[in-house]
Amino acid sequence: MTLPIAVLASGRGSNLAALLDAHAAGNLPVAFKLVAGDKADAPALRNAETHGIPTLALDPKSFTSRGEFDAAMFANVAASGAQLVVLAGYMRIIDAAVTARWTGRMINIHPSLLPKYRGLHTHRKALKAGDVEHGASVHFVSDELDGGPVIAQTRIEVRKDDTEDSLAARLLPHEHRLMVACVAAIARGEVRERDGKVWFRGQPIAAPLGLDAAGHLGSP
Ligand code: GRF
Repeated sequence: MTLPIAVLASGRGSNLAALLDAHAAGNLPVAFKLVAGDKADAPALRNAETHGIPTLALDPKSFTSRGEFDAAMFANVAASGAQLVVLAGYMRIIDAAVTARWTGRMINIHPSLLPKYRGLHTHRKALKAGDVEHGASVHFVSDELDGGPVIAQTRIEVRKDDTEDSLAARLLPHEHRLMVACVAAIARGEVRERDGKVWFRGQPIAAPLGLDAAGHLGSP
């Protein structure tokens, strides 16, 4: 089975690049239907174009409200045929009417060990708190910012000399593996959301999944 997906991104697009690489290597059974965002000059959109994927940039300033912007954005997403929306560095809060319609069909990657540090500046917050461990989470999207049931997490140690930048840079390749593993597991029908819980291979999970050495999801 090939899962039609749309990726929403606002910037650099390294997570999108990781998905494209995995797809090119034959490790991701998806079809990229659309890459869309709120920034016309986002490198993520340029990269999608070079791969021949349809792109769309909508300018929030052209809309009178968040609801109107999101209605337009997600009308395009639906029209693309996507059955899963992947938020990969999409720096906008999404209207609750849309998140309700896409429950169980939209995921986000967030650079913290949720429920810690929702919102921005996650690396700064982890350092400030003196955490010895940091990480990233992929979760199904709900109407709460960086809320929704967590599918899986990846963890790294925080070093004594870490800065926000060094922590972000060391975490990024782990984020990419996590993102690819989660999208692959959903595409293969191994992961889904039901009743506000994540189900993995037919069972509700009690805690976020982790990644094994081969980059596959499993018990932490
Ligand atoms: C990543 O750190 C992701 O966790 C966060 O935004 C960043 C996006 O990076 N949501 P990129 O645009 O995929 O390179």
